[in-house]
Amino acid sequence: MSGNNDTAVLIKGALLYGEGEPVDVLVADGEIRRIGTDLDAVDAEIIDARGQVLLPGFVDLHTHLREPGREDTETIESGSAAAALGGYTAVFAMANTAPVADSVVVTDHVWRRGREVGLVDVYPVGAVTVGLEGKQLAEMGTMAAGVGAVRMFSDDGHCVYDPLIMRRALEYANSLGVLIAQHAEEPRLTQGAIAHEGPTAARLGLAGWPRAAEESIVARDALLARDAGARVHICHASTAGTVELVRWAKSQGISITAEVTPHHLLLDDSRLETYDAVNKVNPPLREASDAAALRQALAEGIIDCVATDHAPHAEQDKCCEFAAARPGMLGLETALSIIVQTMVEPGLLDWRGVARVMSERPAAIVGLDEHGRPLEVGEPANLTLVDPKASWTVRGKELASISNNTPFEAMTFPARVTATLLRGRVTARDGKALGAALRGGS
Ligand code: DOR
Ligand code: ZN
Repeated sequence: MSGNNDTAVLIKGALLYGEGEPVDVLVADGEIRRIGTDLDAVDAEIIDARGQVLLPGFVDLHTHLREPGREDTETIESGSAAAALGGYTAVFAMANTAPVADSVVVTDHVWRRGREVGLVDVYPVGAVTVGLEGKQLAEMGTMAAGVGAVRMFSDDGHCVYDPLIMRRALEYANSLGVLIAQHAEEPRLTQGAIAHEGPTAARLGLAGWPRAAEESIVARDALLARDAGARVHICHASTAGTVELVRWAKSQGISITAEVTPHHLLLDDSRLETYDAVNKVNPPLREASDAAALRQALAEGIIDCVATDHAPHAEQDKCCEFAAARPGMLGLETALSIIVQTMVEPGLLDWRGVARVMSERPAAIVGLDEHGRPLEVGEPANLTLVDPKASWTVRGKELASISNNTPFEAMTFPARVTATLLRGRVTARDGKALGAALRGGS
């Protein structure tokens, strides 16, 4: 798997972090070899990057790849292609597969399959509890010690709702040096809930999911993490109240981090007017004031990073009555453009900030040392090239995912990923993912 036999790549005229004068970047043997002007390299693949922004490859802490079990909706291969096209060089594959990733057999399989496909580093997330049932801790130590070296555990899709189990999980994770990521949803408060509890859901007759269902778990877990001296990560923060709780916890020195999805930054519950289940997601789309608070918190660093919660679903599970539909939406291929629209264009983040929230912070949260690195000579060549002037219209059927449940259908967005490099190999270029077979290697 080493990059030694690969062609060198010469990126010509890119703006590092969108700043300064254009430079050439020579990539060889999996790392950044030279940065300068007028670089030449015999036999190198040339990428004309004039006017484009070079960033460290993106890291997604929250992806559902559906393999094993629902390969009709996504596979590690198709999801890896979507990730590479979206500018990602590392993704964390959530544990709610079938069978559940609550054993080293499953987590190691996910890791190995990711390596075989070779488009993105797929890190398996292990389940916190057996079968995601919230009753008995899974064998976290065995999964952490496997080939896949699980470094993050989550019952995502379900909340680790029992406070004693959560406390034990945090203590155990602390001794293993791994992270617990919580899907914060108090289950009694969300029984039968399908939409954000507010005026829109009331008018449309949809059973409401209160903000307190999320916020009460965020507050509880901050306190449990404080007492255990452990770290906790909050998945898909969706309310202004969660922002304030995370702000408070950080001010107390509690080791808490949080992610936000592109869809919670951009969309709100006014989207539900059509009853189209493509807009159904957990946690639900909230109100415009929540989205505004999340954008501000991401700019300030209270919310640490962007994570997609890429959640492919089959047509029959989405094109049905709202209450019966599965929650979730695609996210990998649209994430960068939505961050540009919601954060860069309004002046909330510059390109350095994009590198921070999409690459450096997520890599640091899980302790990756190969990803989220500075754009410097000698660093691993995990890179994303973005055309900031491009604009494109989303068509679900044209996305690399097997499923096409995107809420962004027919919407036009700014900026596009034009190339992604994983350890110096081009994994996506000009809208095409370049799998191992196409590259003529393993
Ligand atoms: O909308 C969601 N979909 N939220 C989750 O927590 C799980 C995910 C899925 O697996 O489809
Ligand atoms: Zn979740």
